[in-house]
Amino acid sequence: MAKIVWDHNSMGLGIKLLDEQHQRLVGIINQLYEIVEQPEPATAEEPLHDIIDQLVDYAYYHFQTEELLFEKYQYPQSFAHISEHKYFTSELGRLAARFANERGDTERLRQPLQLDILAFLTNWLINHICFCDRGFANYLKQQGQLGEITL
Ligand SMILES: [Fe+2]
Ligand SMILES: [Fe+2]
Repeated sequence: MAKIVWDHNSMGLGIKLLDEQHQRLVGIINQLYEIVEQPEPATAEEPLHDIIDQLVDYAYYHFQTEELLFEKYQYPQSFAHISEHKYFTSELGRLAARFANERGDTERLRQPLQLDILAFLTNWLINHICFCDRGFANYLKQQGQLGEITL
């Protein structure tokens, strides 16, 4: 499995505030890849919990940022977009709960992480940025507002 490589052409929206937050999210998911690849599982459990917590917190912060921008710029597609955020937040919540339940069994934690969770996080994030978030960026562009976006 490979880390996510930030591709400016497909993932960059031209909105500095959001591009920086997206890069941070990619960075957190890439830290999970690093843990999964560690040869010594005994040392991996605490950082794994820390990173999952970071991901939950930062995703929440990021979605809030976008949703405030939808309001500020009166984005007409906000309802569908916010539903996507809610879906991811609830999946992430399930994931965090599963990790909390399996605390103490690092090998069991690493296996499912390797098999399906990283793929889910990676695919969801890349698709969401490239299609949903880009939809918002295109809307701002049409409004002539891209580039000077602030909260
Ligand atoms: Fe986003
Ligand atoms: Fe979004």
